[in-house]
Amino acid sequence: MLVSAKEMLDKAKAGHYAVGQFNINNLEWTKAVLQTAQELNSPVILGVSEGAGKYMCGYKTVVGMVNGMLEEMNITVPVALHLDHGSYDACYKCIEAGFSSIMFDGSHYSIEENVAKTKELVAAAHEKGLSIEAEVGSIGGEEDGVIGMGECADPQECKMIADLGIDFLAAGIGNIHGKYPANWKGLSFETLDAIQQLTGDMPLVLHGGTGIPEDMIKKAISLGVSKINVNTECQLSFAAATRKYIEEGKDQEGKGFDPRKLLAPGAQAIKDTVKEKMEMFGSVGKA
Ligand code: 13P
Repeated sequence: MLVSAKEMLDKAKAGHYAVGQFNINNLEWTKAVLQTAQELNSPVILGVSEGAGKYMCGYKTVVGMVNGMLEEMNITVPVALHLDHGSYDACYKCIEAGFSSIMFDGSHYSIEENVAKTKELVAAAHEKGLSIEAEVGSIGGEEDGVIGMGECADPQECKMIADLGIDFLAAGIGNIHGKYPANWKGLSFETLDAIQQLTGDMPLVLHGGTGIPEDMIKKAISLGVSKINVNTECQLSFAAATRKYIEEGKDQEGKGFDPRKLLAPGAQAIKDTVKEKMEMFGSVGKA
C-alpha cells in the first residue's frame, strides 16, 4: 500500500539521512526503482512530473500501475507516489487519482499568492491523508537553451511557507535541474543553514540531485536535507546502456530485438544508479 511521505521523511530528518525521490517514466523505470528499494530495504519516493504523468496516459494509469506492482512484486518497504512540481490543478487531480503525496510548486507566483494557494492545498491534501511539499525560490536549470545558475531562497519566505503546515520544503540553494554547468558555483550552505535555523524540524528537499558531488550531498544532509530528487541521472544511465547494447549489435543477435531484452540493460543501469544514490543518501536498511 502506498504511504504518505511524511513519516519516512520525519524519520530521515531525525536519523540524519535522506530518502531518494526517483522520477519515473514508464513501467521499466518504476519496476527498476521498486526492485532496488526492496533489495536494499530502503524507503523510496516515486516522483511523477506533469509531463511524465501525461506520457503514462494520466495519473490514474500511474496509480493503477504502481499499486499493482506493490502487490504483485510483494513490495514491503514504504513507497510514496509523489507529484513533482505540480500546478494547482495537477495537485487536485493527483489527490483524486490516489497519489499519496503532492508537491505544489508556487515558486513562480508572488509570495502572497504562493502562501494562499499552498494553504488551501495543505488542507485538501491532509484531508485525504497525503503529504505535501511546497517550494520557495526557483530551482535553476536549462529551459529552451537558457541556463539558470540556481537561485537562493529567502529564509524568511521559507519560514512563512513552512508555517502553513506543509510536510516538507523545497528551497533553492543554488541547485539546478539537469546537468550542472562547468562554472557552477556549488550549493549555498549558508542559505541552507539559515533556512534550517528558521524552519526547525521541517524536512528540507534538495532538487536537482543529478551530478551533485558526494561531499556536498553529505553536508546538505547534515544541514537538514531529508529528501533528494534524482531524475536526469537515471535517464543518462538508461540511455548509455541502451546505446551500448545497440552499438554492439546485440539487437541483431538471435531475438535481441525483443523489447524485454532490448530494454534490460537500461533497466539494470537504472537499478545501479538508484543503488548508488541510496547508499550515498544513507537510506539503505532504513525501511
Ligand atoms: P535532476 O534531473 O537534476 O536529477 O533533478 C530532479 C528533480 O529535482 C526533480 O524534481
